[in-house]
This record gives sequence, structure tokens and C-alpha cells, in this order.
Amino acid sequence: MSETTQPIASQIETAVGSIPGWSPIDQLLTLFTLTFASANIGGDVLELGSWCGRSAVALGMAARLSGNTRVHCIDLFPDKDDWYRNEDGTFSFSVTLAGKKYGAYQDQTVWAEPYHRDIVPVYQRYGGTLDAFKEAMRVNGLSDLVTPYRADMETFAATAPSDLKLRLAFIDGDHNYDAVCNEIRLIERFLLPGGWICFDDAFSSYEGVNRAILSELVESGRYCQFQQMTRKLFVARKR
Ligand SMILES: C[S@@+](CC[C@H](N)C(=O)[O-])C[C@H]1O[C@@H](n2cnc3c(N)ncnc32)[C@H](O)[C@@H]1O
Repeated sequence: MSETTQPIASQIETAVGSIPGWSPIDQLLTLFTLTFASANIGGDVLELGSWCGRSAVALGMAARLSGNTRVHCIDLFPDKDDWYRNEDGTFSFSVTLAGKKYGAYQDQTVWAEPYHRDIVPVYQRYGGTLDAFKEAMRVNGLSDLVTPYRADMETFAATAPSDLKLRLAFIDGDHNYDAVCNEIRLIERFLLPGGWICFDDAFSSYEGVNRAILSELVESGRYCQFQQMTRKLFVARKR
């Protein structure tokens, strides 16, 4: 059976098979389906928190099938030397870009076990996470559609084209309450009516993400169609 006649879940599984990351196939399939099914809204797709490109490949595959869609992937893309060990043995990173310092995993730090199991091997295999990301897009023929930005949401929003419109934004970056609230507000500037915001790690073990969803989305009255799929939550901006 050729790849194009395989069920889409198998195509995604093949495409992300060797890409380091955490999102399982059922969640990637849900992201793919919503991205493709919302093509009638128009606009592009944004990902905040891309790591090595695992979820970006699923979004890119849906964008390719939809036509006329680009995927903008924002991440601080930390290099090996950006990581440091905290006094309690957990890990964080900070990246300096254009003279500005960006910290990540400062409140909820990365435990030593997942750091050594999941993060260290990435740097043994690739020059850095941006190299891994670019390689993932290249081998899947997505480099023309999926663009990485080494930035946070604030910097991206300040430099994005003023006519940028989004039909879907997937948030999987900083899990701190204030940061997620700010990201939601910035994304809303570009989000079309009926467009979707998707979260990873919703109502799992990240208090900041949960509180931001409640205060910015549930209580705002501007969003509807809340749907949870394992760790992922999908909400639509009211029309
Ligand atoms: C869990 S990983 C993303 C995994 C990816 N979505 C996937 O499914 O393969 C979280 C990512 O968020 C990035 N990140 C953390 N804080 C960030 C921030 N303030 N702005 C942009 N990216 C950030 C990290 O560098 C990391 O790559």
C-alpha cells in the first residue's frame, strides 16, 4: 500500500515516527482533523511551543491538504547550553535573543528523570532543537509551508504581518498562568471568528494552564464549543 492510500493516522504515525516529542498519535490526529476540517474559515495556523516539530508535522500535513494555509511555529528553540540545573536538581533553560533574555520552565521546572530521558538525547542527535525541527519539516516535504520563528508570542505578535489571520492556534509552550493569559490575548488579535484555540496539558497537571483557560476563555464569554480530548482542549471563538 503506498503512503498516500494509508489511513491518515498511519500517515501521521509514519511522518512523526522518528521525531522526539510527547504528543501521542491520537492527539496528533485530532489536531490534524480540526486543522483540516476548519479550512472553510480561511486563515493560517499558529503553533506556540514546537520543540522538534512533532505536532508541527501534523499541522503541516493538514495545511498541505487544505491548500492555501501556512503554519507559523514559535518556539525559543533552546540549544544544549541554554539548559541549567537548579539547586533542587531539576532543570530550566533561558535563551538570549537579540539581547533579550527569555526564561522557560522557571516555575514548573523539568525533573531530572525526564530531562535525562527525553531532552539530553535530542542534543546528542541534533545540533539543537531548531535543527531537529528543520530536519523534521524537510524529510516530510513541509519546509515551504511550515515556518519556524525563534521567539516568544509577544515578539512574534510585534513583528507579524498586520494582515495575519488565524483559524487555529495550538498552545504548548510556557505553562505559567500569566504567560498563558498573555499568549491567549495576543493570539486573539489574529484569530478569526469561529477559529480555534487548542491547548496541550489542559486540566492535567499544570495549574497555570487550567487557571488561564478558566479566566481567559470560560469566564470571558467570548468562546464556545469547549471540547477535551485526553490532555488536549479545543475551544472556538464565538462568531
Ligand atoms: C512540550 S514542548 C512542545 C512539544 C510540541 N508541541 C510537540 O508536540 O512535539 C514545549 C515547548 O515550548 C517551548 N517554550 C517554552 N516556553 C516558551 C515561550 N515562552 N515561548 C515560546 N516557546 C516556549 C519550549 O522550548 C518547548 O520546545
